[in-house]
Amino acid sequence: MAKITTRFVCYECGYESPKWMGKCPSCSEWNTLVEEVDDKRSRVPAASRVSPITLDSIGDEDVYRYSSGIGELDRVLGGGMVPGSVVLLGGDPGIGKSTLLLQVAAAMASSGARVLYLSGEESLKQIRLRSLRLGINSSNIFLLNEQDINQLDDYVDEIKPAMVIIDSIQTVYTPDITSLPGSVAQLRESTARIMNIAKKRDIPFFLVGHVTKEGALAGPKVLEHMVDVVIYFEGEKNFSFRLLRGVKNRFGSTDEIGLMEMSGQGLVEVVDPSYVFLTSSSKDCHGTAIAASFEGSRPLLIEIQALVAPNGPAYGRRMASGIDGNRLALIIAVLEKRRAFNLASCDVYLKVTGGVFLKDPSVDLAIAAAIVSSYREQVLPLDTVFAGELSLSGQIRSVPFLEQRLKEVERMGYKRVIIPAGTGRKNYGGGLEMIEVASIDDLIENL
Ligand code: TYD
Ligand code: MG
Repeated sequence: MAKITTRFVCYECGYESPKWMGKCPSCSEWNTLVEEVDDKRSRVPAASRVSPITLDSIGDEDVYRYSSGIGELDRVLGGGMVPGSVVLLGGDPGIGKSTLLLQVAAAMASSGARVLYLSGEESLKQIRLRSLRLGINSSNIFLLNEQDINQLDDYVDEIKPAMVIIDSIQTVYTPDITSLPGSVAQLRESTARIMNIAKKRDIPFFLVGHVTKEGALAGPKVLEHMVDVVIYFEGEKNFSFRLLRGVKNRFGSTDEIGLMEMSGQGLVEVVDPSYVFLTSSSKDCHGTAIAASFEGSRPLLIEIQALVAPNGPAYGRRMASGIDGNRLALIIAVLEKRRAFNLASCDVYLKVTGGVFLKDPSVDLAIAAAIVSSYREQVLPLDTVFAGELSLSGQIRSVPFLEQRLKEVERMGYKRVIIPAGTGRKNYGGGLEMIEVASIDDLIENL
């Protein structure tokens, strides 16, 4: 067999060098040279050349998905697992990635399919302990304590699994390059080989990925470009709720989120999100407002809490958890500009319950209402829900999917909604009292 040669390539400018250097002589960036296998040897031989086929000659039966056994995961995947796809599941340590995938393995195994679970992170005893806790026992789940990715193809050949789990991509390596497991070069090369096996054998692969302190997937961005689906498993340690959020999906939308709860016996699906996020609320204090948010393809009622506290002559602090801090600053600025609120010398803290992060801009109205309520020390009516986006000029913009939001509000037993002007009656025939507001001044008058 020909000797495998490696080279070092700058991932900023593409400069190539036979040896490693700290600084790229071409673009002068530091630490950008990564080891790569010289791909001359991996060229596809002419004999195995494939011919193009026409689009209509691919039968519908070739395009199918199968369920992971966890509805919320299927939802984020775009309706189930696609054969030959590689899914990267990222998340903080201890969030439940291994638990989730072991449960997926169990669901597959119980339907008679074989699953190969490659663990470079935990010993087989540790996985067994987890499976006992989850009540999982199966002769269809094949565990493997292996880090050498070059062996993977043989194992797949031997076991013939319907799905492969690799926990984690940072612990596997190929001995063909000398860098340590988890290094940029190893991540790229290992992922490329896994992709190859997945496509060749037409089975889905799940890769666990670690995240950095900043919350991004550890390793090069190119890892995310290579795989088919990237899902983040989020949540706060102190809360039991977990959120599956798709950030890339070649086979579906990335708007969907999946909600799960970590229990004593593993992860359980949250079937009624609004119910979960509202039950623990302390509704009769000021600074609390309920927002009719929309996450993915379903409405979600969620409690927003604000605390406005005077801070003397110093400029007030702003802290947001569960929404983007810049959006909080913007809403505060609109409130200050439009009305005689002296928020500049107040600390403003904002929190979304349950540890979820809301991206839907239509929670603006609830945020503004919560801030006003805390500032004036005035309790908002318990039976009212807010939906509306705030523009910089202080106007309230209409929101998409209003009808579904209103239905959810009514289902959860609320009596009144505050919504953007001109949007209420025409698309909803339910029994809710609707108060339409055109601007932030309207809102404040109506509180
Ligand atoms: P784990 O799946 O090991 O996380 P990751 O692979 O993302 O690092 O989950 C670890 C945490 O989950 C740990 O703190 C214990 C908790 N846990 C439960 O609360 N209930 C359970 O049934 C299981 C298996 C774990
Ligand atoms: Mg783990």
